[in-house]
Amino acid sequence: MTQGRRGPTIVVSNRGPVTFSRDEEGERGHSRGAGGLVTALNAVLRRSEGAVWIASAQSEEDAAVAREPAPYEVEDLRVRLVEHDGAAYDLMYNTLANPLLWFVQHGLYDLPRSPRLGDDTREAWEKGYVPVNRNFARAVAETVGDASSSTILLHDYQLYMTPLFLREELGDRAEGAFISLFVHIPWPEPDLWGILPNYVRRGVLESLLSADVVAFHTRGYARNFMETAARVLGAEADVEGGTVRYAGREVWVRAYPISIDPDEFGQLAGSEAVLEQERFVKDLPGRLLLRVDRTDLSKNVVRGFEAYGRMLERHPEMAGGVTFLAQLQPSRGDIPEYAAYMEAVGRTAEEVNARHGTDSWRPIELFMQDNFPRSVAAYKNYDVLLVNAVRDGMNLVAKEAAVVNERNGVLVLSEYAGAHEELGEHALTVNPYDLDEQADALHAALTMPEDERRRRAEALRETVLGNTIDDWVEAQVRDIEAHRGHRG
Ligand code: G6P
Repeated sequence: MTQGRRGPTIVVSNRGPVTFSRDEEGERGHSRGAGGLVTALNAVLRRSEGAVWIASAQSEEDAAVAREPAPYEVEDLRVRLVEHDGAAYDLMYNTLANPLLWFVQHGLYDLPRSPRLGDDTREAWEKGYVPVNRNFARAVAETVGDASSSTILLHDYQLYMTPLFLREELGDRAEGAFISLFVHIPWPEPDLWGILPNYVRRGVLESLLSADVVAFHTRGYARNFMETAARVLGAEADVEGGTVRYAGREVWVRAYPISIDPDEFGQLAGSEAVLEQERFVKDLPGRLLLRVDRTDLSKNVVRGFEAYGRMLERHPEMAGGVTFLAQLQPSRGDIPEYAAYMEAVGRTAEEVNARHGTDSWRPIELFMQDNFPRSVAAYKNYDVLLVNAVRDGMNLVAKEAAVVNERNGVLVLSEYAGAHEELGEHALTVNPYDLDEQADALHAALTMPEDERRRRAEALRETVLGNTIDDWVEAQVRDIEAHRGHRG
């Protein structure tokens, strides 16, 4: 390998750690980015000195920051924002990445009717996804500068074409670069991947196989990926050994289950903002059933409410003895399927409340707004947490909640959430499509004897504490070093 200057670690994700704005006095301010991925990457960045985080500009003020000499220093982070053409970004985000890739990878399509792929899809690919990914590759190459060895950690499905473009942009410098792409969402069975038009199906796989490591949250997703690469590209996959050979290169395929920073959540749990919200949470009547999610179709909120309605119907004695608090953060509202889903969520909650509620008791308390302190206050106080996703890459809510809960809360967990590989043994497992099974599980969880609740809750907490965000980072760093050694 060429000897020379070692460049900084570069982390790239579509959504960045902060969004900038300008107040009435013309002062620049910023707020934290949303989502579990951003929280986890924050932890990575804070652990690697001098690292740079590259992300898309989302606001006007972000675009102004993007035009300034990068990187920008904020909250101990060095951030470089990339300004995309507005129309290109819209096509990438609202047509290609969400819904198409997201829907395929979470199995959300109603297949006899959708998707209907055609010119729109091709346009979104060529004029949206491809140029946005090209922009990311250029920004990374600029940040690498003249360093002969660099570590580039790309994140998630918005960036699938970046590894390929990055090799082109880096030219000779690609030889000393370590490039990984972490897929934070499920990788589906090869048949589902086959829904995508050929140019996406093959294009994405060829790009991913130009990285050094492709990473997932579970062994199941890693296996699906290798089988898909073999099926679509005829790549040579060693599923047990975790390698794929394609176009003369060997790519490592790995599972690193993402986790949380327990200290951060411990501190949050004692913060003033959370204590204030706790008063509201503790005033809700009866036992507390909780869910905390983005308003995403994959989270299966409607079926969750329906299952709860069924449980109340079968167990009239539960009336007044439980409140279902749903803390939902609005998400991707410009996409018609999401807007329709938010309506369905509201409607279903109203139906359950109209049918089962009384003057003094509302069975479902639904909030569709961002209120993180209230979510953490509810984490501390739930008796039952429902995570019934149709599919979910990991689901960090299950892990966050387990470490701060003070009531030996029971976890009702979808067998198709990534977290199930680690936590399933100590949760009540449900099939997210089966309303009766979910209704029964909710009842069993709400009436579970205290000693069993304690045993399960302690096991959940210990499991999460046994694999924290530090372990997640360290496992990847070990493999990066091993990979460099392997290449010699
Ligand atoms: C999931 C995805 C992330 C995404 C986040 C929030 O966690 O894996 O890539 O950033 O959702 O979604 P948004 O579309 O708001 O960035």
